[in-house]
Amino acid sequence: MIIDGAKIAAKIQQELFDSIKHLHGRPPSLHVVIVGHHPPSEIYVKRKTEACSRIGILSHTHRFSAEITENELLAHLQKLNAEAAVDGILVQLPLPAHIHSGRITQAVAPDKDVDGFHMINLGKLLIGDPSGFIPCTPLGIQTLLTRSSIEISGKHVVIIGRSQIVGKPMATLLMQNTPQANATVTVAHSQTKNLKSICQTADILIAAIGQPRFVTEDMVKEGCVVIDVGINRVAAPHLPKGYEIVGDVDFQNVQQKCAFITPVPGGVGPMTIAMLLSNTYKSYCLREGLQST
Ligand SMILES: NC(=O)c1ccc[n+]([C@@H]2O[C@H](COP(=O)([O-])OP(=O)(O)OC[C@H]3O[C@@H](n4cnc5c(N)ncnc54)[C@H](OP(=O)(O)O)[C@@H]3O)[C@@H](O)[C@H]2O)c1
Repeated sequence: MIIDGAKIAAKIQQELFDSIKHLHGRPPSLHVVIVGHHPPSEIYVKRKTEACSRIGILSHTHRFSAEITENELLAHLQKLNAEAAVDGILVQLPLPAHIHSGRITQAVAPDKDVDGFHMINLGKLLIGDPSGFIPCTPLGIQTLLTRSSIEISGKHVVIIGRSQIVGKPMATLLMQNTPQANATVTVAHSQTKNLKSICQTADILIAAIGQPRFVTEDMVKEGCVVIDVGINRVAAPHLPKGYEIVGDVDFQNVQQKCAFITPVPGGVGPMTIAMLLSNTYKSYCLREGLQST
């Protein structure tokens, strides 16, 4: 069965729209910072800002040339941190090479860090403090599973990839002692030995590698759940664009073996955006003393 991430994300957006339309006073706001010209980033930012306007979140895009210095960018973030009406700040990655992404990510005020990349929020995730912001892609995957009525508790989850934005927070989230988690988690990476046999033991396999069609049919056990995080551009001369977007999973062959699978596009991607909106609304509610759920 194919998990329709776009449909679940649309439902979440509708729920947020319904909550936001009843608010009095200022609307929630998301401020997106983009540096230089990076075509995929332009597409992501456009999708995020369009989604904001659909559900009633005010979005502002702050554009800077690739020549901006790190100190100038830090000064701009300080201003956004200090503005009372700013609920969420997102710095679109990647940044130009002369700017240290880690320093910029850590300069966003933790209570406006709707991407959930600040160490305070990652620390809160680790200790199970629900007041923080959870990174959008892992949160989106957990939500995709729970809204598809897929049991996580007690399951063996194998995550391929240990990045700061997907693999590590994903593992942390699903090992929490909560009803929507309680998984037994294995994290694999480029130095893992016997990857294939580890993957074959997964009840839920999450691929966040960045390599097209890396996960093949022989790596998954019959009836498992496969979540494909990858977004890879591969040449497709037969298509007008000359390329296509594929995931980290060999979808055509793997789908025949598993119980559930997410497609690319239309799986995890739309959920990442839905969680960004949800985190922005949560930030607004915390700031305004309202309940977000
Ligand atoms: N759908 C979405 O919303 C969304 C959001 C974020 C990312 N993505 C996509 O997800 C993919 C992963 O993103 P990321 O930011 O997590 O990537 P990343 O930072 O490049 O991390 C990739 C991870 O995969 C591991 N890896 C690489 N080759 C491997 C191999 N042969 N065997 C086992 N592990 C291997 C790496 O191991 P080492 O640590 O040992 O190097 C690393 O931990 C990308 O395609 C990205 O575009 C999608």
